[in-house]
Amino acid sequence: MRGLIRLFLALLLPVAQAVSLDIKSKDSVNAATALIAKGLMDYYDGNKYGGTVGMMTAPYYWWEAGAAWNSMLEYWFITGDETYNPTVKESLLYQVGANKDYLPSNQSTTEGNDDQGFWGIAAMAAAERNFSNPSENQPGWLYLAQAVFNQMVTRWDTENCNGGLRWQIYTWNAGWDYKNTVSNGCMFNLAARLARYTGNQSYADWADKIWDWLQEVEFLNYDSGLFKLYDGAHLENECKNHTNIEWTYNYGLLLSGSAFLYDFTNQSSVWEERATELWNRAKVFFDNGVMYEAACNPIGGTMRCNNDQRCFKAIFSRFLGHTATFIPSLQDDIMSSLDSSAAGAAQSCSGGTDGHTCGLSWTYSGWDNYYGLGEQMSALECILNTQILTVAKPLSKRTGATSNGSETAGSTQKTLNNPLSDQTVITGTDRAGAGVLTAVILVALLSIGFWMIWK
Ligand SMILES: *[C@@H]1O[C@H](CO)[C@@H](O)[C@H](O)[C@H]1NC(C)=O
Ligand SMILES: *[C@@H]1O[C@H](CO)[C@@H](O)[C@H](O)[C@H]1NC(C)=O
Ligand SMILES: *[C@@H]1O[C@H](CO)[C@@H](O)[C@H](O)[C@H]1NC(C)=O
Ligand SMILES: *[C@@H]1O[C@H](CO)[C@@H](O)[C@H](O)[C@H]1NC(C)=O
Ligand SMILES: *[C@@H]1O[C@H](CO)[C@@H](O)[C@H](O)[C@H]1NC(C)=O
Ligand SMILES: *[C@@H]1O[C@H](CO)[C@@H](O)[C@H](O)[C@H]1NC(C)=O
Repeated sequence: MRGLIRLFLALLLPVAQAVSLDIKSKDSVNAATALIAKGLMDYYDGNKYGGTVGMMTAPYYWWEAGAAWNSMLEYWFITGDETYNPTVKESLLYQVGANKDYLPSNQSTTEGNDDQGFWGIAAMAAAERNFSNPSENQPGWLYLAQAVFNQMVTRWDTENCNGGLRWQIYTWNAGWDYKNTVSNGCMFNLAARLARYTGNQSYADWADKIWDWLQEVEFLNYDSGLFKLYDGAHLENECKNHTNIEWTYNYGLLLSGSAFLYDFTNQSSVWEERATELWNRAKVFFDNGVMYEAACNPIGGTMRCNNDQRCFKAIFSRFLGHTATFIPSLQDDIMSSLDSSAAGAAQSCSGGTDGHTCGLSWTYSGWDNYYGLGEQMSALECILNTQILTVAKPLSKRTGATSNGSETAGSTQKTLNNPLSDQTVITGTDRAGAGVLTAVILVALLSIGFWMIWK
């Protein structure tokens, strides 16, 4: 009888079979996330003819692939499913670039500090999760994270706004004249985690410095018990003319960094307070306990999220997981927010021809007709992180991590960084000529590359 009813319902509602999820059951979480992870991998064709190893399909930018491999790494760590590990490893290593620093020459027209940052953060996670180590002739996970961080140190720009990273690495990309929270947030996150992983105080000093600078330019704004965190500002007016948009992933970067520093400092009340005040504000991203990207996907409003923004909830969920892992006083509140969000996410995964494609809005009842890499990543990491307290904490050297690095990783990049920075500044109105200019600069870069090799 039951079977008949089910059959009847299945015929009646052919696409309404959401991913079923009971977060109290490990089997249920594993089954649900296996379906979602498989859907995520539909956006990867790096192993097929015409695809590039480590890149996601068009139109997804390079940075998002880095973030997605981090999602897949967490998928393995939390569920134990090793199916995709060879692909994750191969991808993280294929995209390191000639100098082993996640500045591959293919990406010089798109790559900003934040883009490099998310690949560095994925490598950091690989080190902390004791992911299968690269062979001896390849850079270690820790090395890659250090390379990214060390290069950011060389780009710390005190000539404008008394410090901070610009958004862009290369002068010819739009946004060179903008400093933003996400680039500096990636640097802060790496600094915090490198401090804890290596035990080296220099990284923690950098984390303090980045936090102070974010407050100084008021990207990070204290307001009676909470921290508001804005997108960024152009260089003029000492970076004080802010773009007042708030994104989930920016809160995540700072929350996670604060949580790692709380652990590194043996429970300093400073980092606990900072995390608490960030979390107090980050609650605006929940409606009846369900996470949403308020700035571009408002409840009942028009959906304006671009492809990048659709994966921010994945990054936010992962970093809330770190916060709950390390800061006991925030644990219950964060875990209950993740649990209710995961229920919303799972019921959104009821679309597409497979019947379990994930949607963008989790507050919408059922699938909202949006689909993509970001939708899969976000549902995946939110559901995975409901289990974060059942798995081991990120490792450090002290607790048995095996990945090795080098304090000077990434230093060969200096010669390649902004070779024409004195001559070239592209403003918004110059974009039409940017392609030609890029070609010229690429030739210049190539000749510098050859010069470096043959010298
Ligand atoms: C760079 O682009 C070329 C041409 O599309 C491709 O063959 C190569 O695999 C790419 N390299 C990386 C590291 O993405
Ligand atoms: C601040 O930014 C807005 C919008 O980007 C712009 O219209 C305005 O002129 C800027 N003001 C200053 C003082 O730079
Ligand atoms: C934290 O505690 C550990 C173990 O007792 C100690 O080795 C370390 O120096 C302490 N770190 C700080 C920043 O106090
Ligand atoms: C890390 O991985 C190595 C190699 O697989 C293994 O021997 C070691 O026990 C692992 N360490 C921890 C702390 O998990
Ligand atoms: C890291 O360095 C230690 C000490 O030299 C060595 O025992 C270990 O095998 C190295 N790990 C890797 C993954 O190469
Ligand atoms: C800590 O890191 C800094 C910068 O990366 C390096 O210069 C210094 O030698 C390191 N200190 C120790 C004790 O390893």
